[in-house]
Amino acid sequence: MLSTIRSIKLKWSPIFTRTIQTFPCLKHDTMFVHRDTPEDNPDIPFEFTDDNKKRIQAILGLYPEGHKRGAMMPLLDLAQRQVGGWLPLSAMHKVAEILNLPRMRVYEVATFYTMFIRKPVGKYHVQVCTTTPCWLRGSDEVLNTIKSELNIKVGETTTDKLFTLSEVECLGACVNAPMVQINDDYYEDLTVEDTKSILNDLKLGKRPAPGPRSGRYACEPRGGLTSLTSEPPGPGFKVRPDL
Ligand code: FES
Repeated sequence: MLSTIRSIKLKWSPIFTRTIQTFPCLKHDTMFVHRDTPEDNPDIPFEFTDDNKKRIQAILGLYPEGHKRGAMMPLLDLAQRQVGGWLPLSAMHKVAEILNLPRMRVYEVATFYTMFIRKPVGKYHVQVCTTTPCWLRGSDEVLNTIKSELNIKVGETTTDKLFTLSEVECLGACVNAPMVQINDDYYEDLTVEDTKSILNDLKLGKRPAPGPRSGRYACEPRGGLTSLTSEPPGPGFKVRPDL
């Protein structure tokens, strides 16, 4: 990551030299600009299933009159889950219709949040966090292992449509770095061997247990508790005696 920083030295005067640092533009695999494709265009009909229509009524019931647009993200998420992990244009139009909003309001939300995936993904969407804490703990090795095990690059899907690989920013589990998110599950404290084992289980149709692979229950210190190791003092602790 840091090795990709490039330095340019500008000389404005014999006594003044300034260094400007630039980063090569990273091409994110998420599509922010819509382009019609055979599998994603406004002519493809979309309708929520009967079960999801009931869920929509329940979700809309949570929001008061005049504020139904607050349900946009839950509805987009519902549509994405129904389609199989990505959000087609027609589904966005359906949500706009349900919320009685201009389509642009839905486009704005769906293209802002990276949780909404704008192109088809495989059965397992493998999202590798490569932000600093994960990078310092070996996310490059994890990412390279996934690439070589699946024989795909970031942004690609395996030919059997089983896996799609994405590189993402911090997923909020830095204490358990390095980690990946696969569909709704977090796999944490990963080594190269853990990563291979998770992918193999998924290929075999098993669901590997989510969570840390280091033996930790959650994000507690690896060497045992470092604080709150004794009974808490009772009421009046360190209070002045005259109070
Ligand atoms: S940096 Fe990877 S989860 Fe936060």
